Amino acid sequence: MRLLPGVVTVLLIVGVAYYVYVPLPDAIQEPWKLMMVDAGFRTVMQLTSLQHWLGLDHCFKCICEATEGFGSMVKGLLTSVSGGGVMPGVKVSDLTFAGVPVRVYEPPAGGEGHLRRGLMYFHGGGWKFGSAKTGAYDSTSRTLSDELNAVVVSVEYRLYPEVHFPMPYLDCLAAAKHFLSREVLAKYAIDPERVAVSGDSAGGNLAAAVAQEISTDESMSEKFSVQALVYPVLQALDFNTPSYLQNENIPLLYRPVMVRFWLQYLGVDLSLQPQFLANNHSSLQHFTPELRARLDWTVLLSPKYRKNYKQLIVEKGLEGLSKEVPGLLDVRASPLLAEPEVLAKCPRAYIVTCEYDVLRDDGLMYARRLQDAGVSVTNDHYEDGFHGCFSFISWLEFDVGKRAVRGYINWLQNNL
Ligand SMILES: *[C@@H]1O[C@H](CO)[C@@H](O)[C@H](O)[C@H]1NC(C)=O
Repeated sequence: MRLLPGVVTVLLIVGVAYYVYVPLPDAIQEPWKLMMVDAGFRTVMQLTSLQHWLGLDHCFKCICEATEGFGSMVKGLLTSVSGGGVMPGVKVSDLTFAGVPVRVYEPPAGGEGHLRRGLMYFHGGGWKFGSAKTGAYDSTSRTLSDELNAVVVSVEYRLYPEVHFPMPYLDCLAAAKHFLSREVLAKYAIDPERVAVSGDSAGGNLAAAVAQEISTDESMSEKFSVQALVYPVLQALDFNTPSYLQNENIPLLYRPVMVRFWLQYLGVDLSLQPQFLANNHSSLQHFTPELRARLDWTVLLSPKYRKNYKQLIVEKGLEGLSKEVPGLLDVRASPLLAEPEVLAKCPRAYIVTCEYDVLRDDGLMYARRLQDAGVSVTNDHYEDGFHGCFSFISWLEFDVGKRAVRGYINWLQNNL
């Protein structure tokens, strides 16, 4: 009997270690820290799925509410422990821009007649998680406002499951148009020549899509002057790019998880996930060669990234899917599919990519296509970077994350 507590403890430790441990490439520094964050993140996702699953059954409503409470507690633990980033001079206000909730960060006034920079930010989280107000996003916005002397507007666009495409995009676009209006720029003393649009991950997707729309909208007199995209999501047609394959099991963004985010964003039934993983949704039958060329990584990626991976093109896959899911071929969902004429009008770009990220090639291909269209692009590639290092773990201070944030601020300092 005296053995029992010992046995239970050992089993618990083994169980927790099994849950937490993920094999990682040597280049990734601070592997245990990453595993711990990953385990926390997976727990939140599993609880959210459980919540969803329970939500289908009305009898479980109270359990559902209880898990919801627990889920937000874990989410809170993950994101609200804010380390530093408190800038006493920065004024923070929660407002709405064209009906969309935003958090506005204003730097200390620079004196009469001094115009400031402007920066609109869309947070990441798979169009499903995240908030401008949580720890890392909030503290980064404060730092940006203070260091860049910028009015930062961080947008609380609506998320899944409340809405899916195109609503989050439309929220961001409405907020962006409001921000770029003469009255609002004047009210905040912002230099109309120095306004950036930016975002990470799913927020990078929204930033790229909004930048394209504003750049080509003849009715808009003020435009964004730069776009800063941090490991953006840019396409949903090829889930077998070299980076999707190389990094499919690397935290914090596993390949099936990213595909799932896409299915939910586009309103596709989750049972189709295996078909999407097999590229069966983007077979030749509903996909012109011209469109395919816009994400042909055998051409758009350098050999360093292509390695020996083989392109997966399906002759005949799912029937009629592109008609059922109009978002699949919509440039507002997949900015990488935009035509060269649209890209040519887009603002100068800063693109962060990480070697250990399924989305690496989305970012690299977009950088290449913008350059081919004549747009100036700076690509900071982190050889030891992983998805998420920039955005939601500032309080844990990963070295690569700190370097990525510093590089991002420096680029804006010199180019915005
Ligand atoms: C993809 O489509 C082919 C042809 O329709 C089918 O044989 C195959 O089973 C599909 N793959 C998956 C994973 O569903």
